Amino acid sequence: MHEPKWEWCTPVKSEKCDTSEGIFISLEGGDGSGKSTQATLLGQWCGEATGREVILTREPGGTALGAQLRQLVQHGEDMAPRTEALLYAADRAHHVAALIRPALERGAVVITDRYLDSSVAYQSGGRELGAQEIKDLSLWATDSLLPDVTVLLDIDEATADARRHAREAAQGEEPDRLERAGQEFHARVRSAYRALAQDDPARWLVIDASGTVEEVHAALVSALIPRLASHLPASPSAGDPADAHAQAITPDSAIATASGATTALAATADLAHPDPTATLGPAS
Ligand code: TYD
Repeated sequence: MHEPKWEWCTPVKSEKCDTSEGIFISLEGGDGSGKSTQATLLGQWCGEATGREVILTREPGGTALGAQLRQLVQHGEDMAPRTEALLYAADRAHHVAALIRPALERGAVVITDRYLDSSVAYQSGGRELGAQEIKDLSLWATDSLLPDVTVLLDIDEATADARRHAREAAQGEEPDRLERAGQEFHARVRSAYRALAQDDPARWLVIDASGTVEEVHAALVSALIPRLASHLPASPSAGDPADAHAQAITPDSAIATASGATTALAATADLAHPDPTATLGPAS
């Protein structure tokens, strides 16, 4: 059987590599919080602000194997919560080994739409499995790779629900297994996320995701800049190295200024599921 040969594919590494050269950012939030759109805009901004290669990816389904696991876990038959937890963890283990670690080792910015906190929020908060067990499972799966920054796009349940329905109606989509889990489930997911963020403010940024796409992107960028300050090239004109990078990107400018690969991705910014793994070149 032939594996598709993707640009970023490198042999899966079984040993730990040095990931400290890269920048690892995860985006988290409930269904309908706008993560996919924000991930796209953030990827464009990071390329311009850091001059680095940017990898945009997602869970589940950031690799070819992951796409198969995604199909099983999102659209397959009903399964026990432990089965669900193991499938997400399996997707994550492969994602980290095949894509995330090698990219970080190259010094890239990796932005993932969901990572291990999704498992704690959904499988523990939502499905009510033990939080520590779920976290430990993912830490084992990833050999303890944690993001440098995790952004929670926080939104109240009613707004998220309305966005989900609008998206489903516009795109003729059927809700998947998790989206069908009901309001109480999604309320538990939200509180689990907020508790995680509260427990580890050094890693988390909480952004109010109820505004427009532009407002949320601008808030995200200004909160992120201080966290990334040491990775941003110094500004020639300003005293504060972050000043030169404070300009947020609008969805239109992301599309207009993009390179070929970025255009394909940015053009999907309003869709629920952008190209799961895209490489953005550094801004020229
Ligand atoms: P997706 O269609 O990618 O939705 P979204 O755009 O909201 O990310 O579906 C991902 C779903 O999988 C979402 O409902 C959350 C769920 N999920 C888990 O339950 N556990 C996990 O570990 C991950 C990564 C996702």
